[in-house]
Amino acid sequence: MAKKQLEINIEKFNEKGVGIAFNGNGTKIVISRAIIGDKILAELNKKRKGYIKARILKVIEPSKNRINPKCKSFEICGGCSWQNLEYSEQLKQKEKLVIKNFEDYIKKTNLKLYPIFPAKEIFEYRNKMEFSFSQNQKKTMYLGLIMLGGRFVVDIERCFLANEWFSNVLKEVKTWWERCDFSAYNFFNGEGFLRTLTLKEGKNTKDKMVVLTTSTSTTLDEEQKRDFISSIIKAIGSDNNLSIYLNEQRAKKGEKTTFELTKLFGKDFIKEDLYIKVDKSKIKLSFQIGPHSFFQPNTIQAQNLYSLAINYLNLEEIKDKVIFDLYSGTGTIGMILAKFVKKVIAIEINQDSCNQAKDNLKLNNINNFEMINGDVSLILDEILKDKNFEKPHLIVIDPPRGGLSLEAIENILKILPKNILYISCNPKTQARDIKILTENGYQLKILHPIDQFAQTFHIENIAVLENTL
Ligand SMILES: C[S@@+](CC[C@H](N)C(=O)[O-])C[C@H]1O[C@@H](n2cnc3c(N)ncnc32)[C@H](O)[C@@H]1O
Repeated sequence: MAKKQLEINIEKFNEKGVGIAFNGNGTKIVISRAIIGDKILAELNKKRKGYIKARILKVIEPSKNRINPKCKSFEICGGCSWQNLEYSEQLKQKEKLVIKNFEDYIKKTNLKLYPIFPAKEIFEYRNKMEFSFSQNQKKTMYLGLIMLGGRFVVDIERCFLANEWFSNVLKEVKTWWERCDFSAYNFFNGEGFLRTLTLKEGKNTKDKMVVLTTSTSTTLDEEQKRDFISSIIKAIGSDNNLSIYLNEQRAKKGEKTTFELTKLFGKDFIKEDLYIKVDKSKIKLSFQIGPHSFFQPNTIQAQNLYSLAINYLNLEEIKDKVIFDLYSGTGTIGMILAKFVKKVIAIEINQDSCNQAKDNLKLNNINNFEMINGDVSLILDEILKDKNFEKPHLIVIDPPRGGLSLEAIENILKILPKNILYISCNPKTQARDIKILTENGYQLKILHPIDQFAQTFHIENIAVLENTL
């Protein structure tokens, strides 16, 4: 039976930047790639879970903020969500989301809400991309990004989120794949060989890394390895500052996934430098990045994020104090602050990130930094049991999207630092947690959103709190 068609007007975005309209009965219609102000002829699916999913058949009247996307695959690729929306409007929408979540504080308190900090580079800003290999039943080869909806892979000719060399490598690896004719790994049945191609770049150093991840169903022979390396060098045009790895992933049901890394070419690590502006001076930190290392995906905006956040702190007040860096990842924020305080104690659950942090502490000659591996709430429990623990003046928190656990908040409230710097990629959970903190003696002083991911709905938000008890 043919699906129902309907003319709809897009009224708002949901939290994932997807267009929302309503039909005559008031039922919500959710439609990807539609933007506020569009009048659209939509094809409707059946109502499920209280709403209707739809797709654009025709844009009858485009929104005044609609622009032509740069990327040919934008309509189907899951990488960008807002390439068809004017950048100034992307910023407005992100700011609106922060305001919506913090409405109460904005109305009731003398909170300082700064306008969103925009990105200068709205394309080619990413320093890392992960592309997937895939094949359909006819064995057609696809190498690119996961499609909107998450099931298939879109063949990508040119991804504008990263520098052009990423796309050149993609093209050459695809040709290499056609020559050696391996099968792509199939996530649904666990069969096949080629899984992903991860490309990384030091934006400030121009170092480049290529990681080919495979299953263990077969192996590359020496000739195929040499051919792979030549393809990469051909695509990049030089072998300077290049590192190539083979990463064999062993995944068995019920067993822990393991990886076996073989360096095929070049250096063990690539390097990235960060330049952080503090007052009128600039400090430089260097980071080693390996095949499995985490690093903030937008180097330039990470520099701006950390510079903004640190300039909201009273560095004179913390200069001979202990501070905590919770959910520290590889310890970047703590390492910057270590230059200005007596000691940093960082807590991070991921062992690899902790090891990486330790390497980077050595690289930057930082000696007043203790890295603890474990769950924030449990480690804080232990710290609190120690009667002699030195109370931190400042706690920095940068948790995953889910925000803080209740136990973590309770422990932070027991410690009661003078200031909390809460950086978040999810204003909803950030506002939820800050509500509890403000009900227990903290005042929200500063909010400053920053755009780290142009062309997507993602947002980063800096919040500074002060204990008023
Ligand atoms: C948004 S990232 C922080 C990134 C880091 N601040 C940086 O700038 O590189 C969140 C981190 O929290 C860690 N994490 C998640 N749950 C945790 C927990 N319960 N205890 C400690 N760390 C946790 C994750 O492994 C991840 O590294």
